[in-house]
Amino acid sequence: MTHLSIPVRRLAWGTDWHMNFLKPAARQAFIERIAGIEADAFAITGDISDGSNLEQDLRRIGNTITKPVFVLLGNHDRYHSSFAATEEIVQRATAMHPYLRRLTGGELVELSPTTALLGVDGWADGTAGAGSASEVELNDSRFIRDLAVLPRPVRWLKMRELADEFASAVAATLNEAMARYQNVIVLTHVPPLPEATWHEGKPSDAEFLPHFCNPTLGRLLREGCIKFPNTKLTVFCGHTHGEGVHREGNMTVFTGGAEYFEPRVDRVIEIA
Ligand SMILES: [Fe+2]
Repeated sequence: MTHLSIPVRRLAWGTDWHMNFLKPAARQAFIERIAGIEADAFAITGDISDGSNLEQDLRRIGNTITKPVFVLLGNHDRYHSSFAATEEIVQRATAMHPYLRRLTGGELVELSPTTALLGVDGWADGTAGAGSASEVELNDSRFIRDLAVLPRPVRWLKMRELADEFASAVAATLNEAMARYQNVIVLTHVPPLPEATWHEGKPSDAEFLPHFCNPTLGRLLREGCIKFPNTKLTVFCGHTHGEGVHREGNMTVFTGGAEYFEPRVDRVIEIA
């Protein structure tokens, strides 16, 4: 686990920018606009771009925003590429741009004496809703090399495996953060609870749920909330492109809205 202290009072959060859909000049203009937002740090919860454009888009962000930018990856960031190749790209970009902070689950970032932040990509584990009986197939299965080579039944297993790996990467960090801080912010790409898979104002239906939800991480978060009832847990995620807020007990999940061609900052979070 890596402990970091990055004082932040205002954190600007956006998700699912899919910058690859914009022309290069529009991408630059967007990032310059974002850089002007009154915030001490930024967070992007995945699907920043696609695998072919991620490196140049991360560099663009790193060159333009001279404040900490917490990043994690979504499924689209691996399109036309693989998990390993995408990770290499991110490592190269973060090595060149010290303000870019890739969150892998093992970083416990103190934002204030009472608030900690952590983040992990996460993956839809394929078990929610109709599970493997769902006939929906995301483009992940065509455009991410690690998945494209697998027969369909094995892909369901791979989804679970990925969700497990990401959950394992964040488990100890989450536990320590919830034990030590009054407020814990978790950044992730895929909504961890079915109730947070907003699509057109409602949670996603049974056919889409296996691809739009990560119950593996959801269980971990709910366990943490029971174990540490006095800690306020706030999750920021994306992936479904539908905006919504789900509250239960000491956990609140914000799912960010997103539209192709119109990236945006969803909200500026005041850190306690
Ligand atoms: Fe996504």
